[in-house]
Amino acid sequence: MCGIVGFTGAESAAQNILEGLEKLEYRGYDSAGVAVLNDGIISITKVTGRIAALKEKTNNGLALPGTTAIGHTRWATHGAPIDINAHPHISNDGRFAVVHNGIIENYMDLKVSLIKDGYRFESETDTEVVVHLLEKYYNGSMKDCIRKVAAKLKGSYALGILCTEQPNKIFATKQSSPLILGVGVGENYFASDVTALISHTQNVIYLEDGEFAEIDRESIKIYDCTGTEIKKSISHVNWDIQAAEKGGYEHFMLKEIVEQPRAVKATLTPRIRDGKIVLDDLDLDLTGIHKVLITACGSAYYAGCAGKYIIEKLCQIPVELQLASELRYSSLIINDGTLLIVLSQSGETADTIAAMKECSEKGAKTLAIVNVVGSTVAKLADYTLYTNAGPEIAVATTKGYTTQLATLYLFSVYAAGVLGRLSKEKYSQLIKELLSIPKLLQETMDMNSKIENTAKKYFNSSSMFFIGRNTDYAVALEGALKMKEISYIHAESYAAGELKHGTIALISEGTPVIALACNEDIKEKTISNMVEVKSRGARVLAVALNDDKKIAMLANDIIYVPRFDSVFSPILEVIPLQLLAYYVAKFNGCDIDKPKNLAKSVTVE
Ligand code: G6P
Repeated sequence: MCGIVGFTGAESAAQNILEGLEKLEYRGYDSAGVAVLNDGIISITKVTGRIAALKEKTNNGLALPGTTAIGHTRWATHGAPIDINAHPHISNDGRFAVVHNGIIENYMDLKVSLIKDGYRFESETDTEVVVHLLEKYYNGSMKDCIRKVAAKLKGSYALGILCTEQPNKIFATKQSSPLILGVGVGENYFASDVTALISHTQNVIYLEDGEFAEIDRESIKIYDCTGTEIKKSISHVNWDIQAAEKGGYEHFMLKEIVEQPRAVKATLTPRIRDGKIVLDDLDLDLTGIHKVLITACGSAYYAGCAGKYIIEKLCQIPVELQLASELRYSSLIINDGTLLIVLSQSGETADTIAAMKECSEKGAKTLAIVNVVGSTVAKLADYTLYTNAGPEIAVATTKGYTTQLATLYLFSVYAAGVLGRLSKEKYSQLIKELLSIPKLLQETMDMNSKIENTAKKYFNSSSMFFIGRNTDYAVALEGALKMKEISYIHAESYAAGELKHGTIALISEGTPVIALACNEDIKEKTISNMVEVKSRGARVLAVALNDDKKIAMLANDIIYVPRFDSVFSPILEVIPLQLLAYYVAKFNGCDIDKPKNLAKSVTVE
């Protein structure tokens, strides 16, 4: 939800800002803007739409001279996505410009009081109160001013600030929204996330809540919330530049689908040593755990749905699932016998963070399965297992999801081993199966090289149903979400046996039903449900184990995945569904990497 970036150095600031914003566009892309401080004057350029439009309007930044600037790409919360609501916002006296990611929850009260004081508002945003507060409280010291302003604000914010009286400097502060400082040579940055920085520097400083940074081209000074200067260590990010580039693929999503064998290998193999799972980061006494609670949002939640089946099966511990956005308002029993597993690619999803804090307060131990190193979820957790997927840029997650599944698999086998729920032979067999997953993912990809042709038969549907039972159902949830988020086709997932209790009324001649039938234990039951919908006119596309002749005879179309007689087979099954969604969206001319109304990192509740 919104990306911010700031630059000060010797080169064109606007060009650097535009480049950084392009990398952050996955966070929001309905409007954008840049403010450049040059010769004591702040000039602002805004557009409704994408960074490409901002580049065009500013002649790739060349029209904006100056070496100090801040920029913003927006996912609208308060106020429509139009120029006046786009950031940066400027103070009435023109001395301050602000970019903001987050939500100022008490902005209405602040706005009323600022209007009484005579400040004039131009936009409908919550952010604009910040810039007027800066004007109101500035007395020559930005440090003092920021402290006074921060004391007035409730909610979440990562703020980037320019001040005409502070030439060649950018300022940044944060509360509950991510903000990273980039340490360059003769130039320094701030940004919402490392992808905006890694083409310039891999040396970063993670700013914490309440801290304030004063940045010029040669130095970065950081102060804590009492105004005392503090020293912070510089971290080295090991993501490479290519990982955040398309690398010849038409879309990031396709690149990230193809990267999955490698990403899952990077997740699994470093943690399997001498036939054993070694989770260095998990120094937890599992014997005191009576219940596992899994929480997350979106696809991460669906990875949790698949995780529930396997943890229960292998560890024989009860597992509850709760959407992070619902968890805080539920009456779930949570105590020190609860292990909360939090799944998040970004580690910055606001609902997930809130749910996690709530459970921690109630005494639960928290284990984060997260991709972004140093993210809020990783920092808050008692224990963290990184998914090692590398940067994921496409809004619709693919390798983020499969590496979460792989990490859940590792955890399940590890925990079952520690708890003595597996025989030696079974444990060794599961380790072998885990190690074979990357190769099988590649085989799955190769087997589905013609899926583009299958997609041609389905792309002009208005509605689709994804059905399956047990683990097949968990994968159906993710398959339907992939389809709707990038192709805008209504797609619903249903536990196959439940369809006849109402939803089957929606099946008519030609309605596509994607039937997942890879779980051998309950395949026959799913086949019955396939037949039921087919008799009512549905066009059935089955996802089955390689060469399953019976299903091939019944279905209109079939997609195969390798035969993998393992509890881990769902990780393969999702691949053709990702590819199907991708090609259906492509044939519909959709903006695959940046679907309408969405953002990758959802930092508002
Ligand atoms: C957004 C993304 C989804 C993601 C969800 C949770 O909706 O578009 O792909 O699954 O947020 O994000 P997280 O970063 O917590 O996994």
